[in-house]
Amino acid sequence: MHVLSVSSLKGGVGKTTVALGLASAALNKGLNTLVVDLDPQCDATSGLAASNNQSASVAEVLQAPKIQTVRKAIVSSGWHKSSKMDVMVGSPRSLLLDNPAPSVSDVWKLEEVLAMLESEYDLVIIDTPHLSTLSPGPHGSHQTAYSLSQNLPSTQSLPPIEPAGQ
Ligand SMILES: Nc1ncnc2c1ncn2[C@@H]1O[C@H](COP(=O)(O)OP(=O)(O)O)[C@@H](O)[C@H]1O
Ligand SMILES: [Mg+2]
Repeated sequence: MHVLSVSSLKGGVGKTTVALGLASAALNKGLNTLVVDLDPQCDATSGLAASNNQSASVAEVLQAPKIQTVRKAIVSSGWHKSSKMDVMVGSPRSLLLDNPAPSVSDVWKLEEVLAMLESEYDLVIIDTPHLSTLSPGPHGSHQTAYSLSQNLPSTQSLPPIEPAGQ
């Protein structure tokens, strides 16, 4: 199972659009995919036409990472093909859990949850919120996404981009 997060400190820069583009590519490739919506605005959940009227969401999962809660928080998306495209639905309640000074256990809670789902998905895509202007610095949701992603490009690993025409 590969875990990939789409993160930026800024809002409105296309994180959810990229996450949904990757989900679309994964669907076309036939990968069993889970999108985890860590953004309290729940745009990935609504973009994937997944209902967030569940009795549990990613917020309850992070509060109590138990398999029963995880099952309740995951729904099928409205995107259909031969492979699975599921969503761990977002919730405005996750805002209350996005700790500006997360503990190690806060950061690794989602890893615990994904370990339970290891055999069910080929790919997990995590959509993250932007940084709060009230409390700057990477919050728990960002640190969680960074810690879990095997494919996180950084400015150190990306090749420099040459200016056009040179
Ligand atoms: N490559 C792009 N070019 C133009 N508009 C874009 C692009 N990517 C996203 N947008 C638009 O920008 C807005 C914010 O995108 P969104 O993915 O919701 O950002 P974020 O998740 O970072 O807040 C949306 O209206 C989206 O349609
Ligand atoms: Mg977004």
